[in-house]
Amino acid sequence: MPINVLFAAHEKRWAQYEAPLRTALDDIGVDYSLATDMPPAEVDYIVYAPNSPVQDFTPYTRLKAVLNLWAGVEDAVGNPTLKVPYARMVDDEGLTQGMVEWVTGHTLRHHLGMDAHIMNPDHKWVPDAPPVSADRPVGILGLGELGSACGQAIARLGFPVSGWARSQKQIGGITCHTGTDGLRAVLSQSQILILLLPSTPATENTLNAETLAMLPKGAFIINPGRGPLIDDDALLVALDSGHIAHATLDVFRVEPLPQDHPFWAHPRVTVTPHIASETRAPSASRAIAENIRRGEAGEPFLHLVDRDAGY
Ligand SMILES: NC(=O)c1ccc[n+]([C@@H]2O[C@H](COP(=O)([O-])OP(=O)(O)OC[C@H]3O[C@@H](n4cnc5c(N)ncnc54)[C@H](OP(=O)(O)O)[C@@H]3O)[C@@H](O)[C@H]2O)c1
Repeated sequence: MPINVLFAAHEKRWAQYEAPLRTALDDIGVDYSLATDMPPAEVDYIVYAPNSPVQDFTPYTRLKAVLNLWAGVEDAVGNPTLKVPYARMVDDEGLTQGMVEWVTGHTLRHHLGMDAHIMNPDHKWVPDAPPVSADRPVGILGLGELGSACGQAIARLGFPVSGWARSQKQIGGITCHTGTDGLRAVLSQSQILILLLPSTPATENTLNAETLAMLPKGAFIINPGRGPLIDDDALLVALDSGHIAHATLDVFRVEPLPQDHPFWAHPRVTVTPHIASETRAPSASRAIAENIRRGEAGEPFLHLVDRDAGY
C-alpha cells in the first residue's frame, strides 16, 4: 500500500515543491501518493506550513508525523490536536547557508561602516578606517543550527565570537555561555549582536530596557530570529539615545510590518521583509524525504520539536 503524503501549505508553495518532493521521494524508493488534498483518515505524513488551512489534526487518525517546511514552529507547537511527532526544518544547503550569508553580510556592513560611504550625499571625506575584525567582538544569542553556523562563519573571518544558549555547548571558534550570568557576559562585550533564538514564552523580550543597557555604547543589533525577541519600545529608546547605533531587523511582531510602525522611518533602523533566509525546495525536499524514510524504516525522526521547550 502506498504511503500518503499530504502537502498542506499555500498554493504557491505547491508549485515550488511538487517536483522536488517527487524527486526526493522517488530517490528514497518508497511507494507513495503525494497531493494537496486527500481524505484525512488516509494521510500518513503531512508536509506542513503552520499558516496552512490544516489546523485541526484530529481527523488525521493514522498520521505518523508532521514535517514543517520551515525552522520556526511557534505557530503550531502549542496546537493541542497535534499529537504525533513534529519535526522542524533543518536544511543545511539552503536555509542555513542563506542565513550564514545574510548574517555575515550585515555583520560586515556594520563592522566596516559601509553606510557612511555608500550614502554620502555631501561628499564628505572622512578617512577613518574601521578596526580589524579581531578588535570587534560579536555575540550570538541562540546557538542552534543557524546560530552556530553563523557564529563559526564570523569567527573564521577573525571576529572574537561569544554565544548564548539554553544548554552548555562546545563549538569551535565560539565562547559559549548559558544562564542569566552568561547572557550578561555575552551582551557586555558584543559590539555586534545577532539574535537567532526561537520565539517561545522564555525568549520573549530577551532584549528589553535592562538587557539593552548591558550592551556597549554604540552596539549594532541584527535580528533575523523573531520579532518578539525584542521589546520594540525599549529598542526605540536605546536607538534614540544613541546607545544602540543601528538595528537591522528582518522579523517583527506583526508582519508585514505596519506602514505606521516607527521602525520604517527611523534613521538607525534597517527593515528587511523577513528574507534573511528561506527554505530552498530541492534541499528541503531531501530533508523531508529522509524523515519519511526514517519513519518507514522504524528509525527515529530527525529534528523533532521539544513541545515543552516550545522549539
Ligand atoms: N528570518 C528568517 O528568514 C529565518 C529563517 C529561519 C529561521 N529563523 C529563526 O531562527 C530561529 C533559530 O533557528 P534554528 O534552526 O537555529 O533553531 P534551533 O536549532 O532550535 O536553535 C535555537 C537555539 O536557541 C537556544 N534557545 C532556545 N531557548 C532559549 C532560552 N530560553 N535561553 C537561551 N537559549 C535558548 C537553543 O538552546 P539549546 O541549543 O540549548 O537548545 C538553541 O541554541 C528559528 O526559531 C526562527 O525563529 C528565521
